[in-house]
Amino acid sequence: MARTAKPTRPAHLACQPTWPGQPNQPSQPTWPAQPNAPAWPGPSPPTAPQVLPQRPLTVPYDQTLPSGVYDKMLITITGNAKPQAKRITVNLGKGKDIAFHFNPRFDEYGKKVIVRNSLIGSQWGKEERDCPRFPFVAGQPFELKILCSHNEYKVAVNKSHLLEFRHRVKELNMINSLSIYDDVTLTSVNIETLP
Ligand code: GAL
Repeated sequence: MARTAKPTRPAHLACQPTWPGQPNQPSQPTWPAQPNAPAWPGPSPPTAPQVLPQRPLTVPYDQTLPSGVYDKMLITITGNAKPQAKRITVNLGKGKDIAFHFNPRFDEYGKKVIVRNSLIGSQWGKEERDCPRFPFVAGQPFELKILCSHNEYKVAVNKSHLLEFRHRVKELNMINSLSIYDDVTLTSVNIETLP
């Protein structure tokens, strides 16, 4: 799962937040012009991706996380929403529980919504639905980043911070699976540890 080299950030993106894995950009504060957005790590390059067993990028996609999740773990998923996409699901699981369910819905009674939740002991928790925008487009590629910190998951799509989800399942080292399914095709799934 080699990381592909990313081109230097073009000038028209120079005012956007700094993203991990993009070492060749001008130095700048993290996340300018986004007052309520959390800081993502600065421009220092991430360490090499963890060597995980190679998985075919078929959907449903299931990846065991041998070390669980942990502070500074960054999951990067690239793929395409299918042309008639109704929903995309990304789960971080702890056995049968789902610590983090990330579920963009393209048409929920005519509205687009990203539902986040947990499933603990077969019970869905309280849905988190507030979101500043819906960045997924049916038929279009996307890059989804999930950065685990001590308190929460931070989610960015297409290089822009989107939302946070506070940990409900707090035994991070026991969150041992990454699953991706529904109306999506996958191009890459990378897991790395930021410095
Ligand atoms: C349910 C749905 C589940 C899951 C859950 C999240 O309505 O059937 O797949 O998305 O909402 O709260």
